[in-house]
Amino acid sequence: MKYDKIVRYSLNYIGDLGIKELAKYWRIIMEYKKFNNTIVVRLDVGDEIMSSLTEIVERENVKLAQINGLGGTNDFTIAVRNPETKQYDPTDYKGRYEIANIHGNVTTMDGKPYLHIHIGCGNEKGEYRGGHLVRCIIGATAEIFITIYDGVIERKIDDKTGLHIFKF
Ligand SMILES: [Fe+2]
Repeated sequence: MKYDKIVRYSLNYIGDLGIKELAKYWRIIMEYKKFNNTIVVRLDVGDEIMSSLTEIVERENVKLAQINGLGGTNDFTIAVRNPETKQYDPTDYKGRYEIANIHGNVTTMDGKPYLHIHIGCGNEKGEYRGGHLVRCIIGATAEIFITIYDGVIERKIDDKTGLHIFKF
């Protein structure tokens, strides 16, 4: 293929994707590496943990995995479940926080990837805030390992609690 045809093809491709999608695609392939059953992820300032990891597990067709990591944040929302209302009560935090742990799993629900992640974050006073991760914007970097298992665990809604529990 001649150079001008390649350029035209590339421009058409960019046009189809949209520049934002292309930027997202480029960014995502630059920020993780896969080795056998492990994906090593680096997130940068401004990245959001839930959406970034969802993109990666969808792209890599991960069905079952464990997530472990650490990092730094300045803006995050965690929730604690109220068993009476069966709702998660969210709380927003802003400021300098080290993410002491990102811990979670990937399963599937209705065949689609389902990420369940908890985080714990500490501030300069040594105060620790932890809970069910709703959203977390990276303020420095994040280093996350996704360990993939050979299998599938689906989730189902538990009638008693309303929780999305493992289905065996
Ligand atoms: Fe949770």
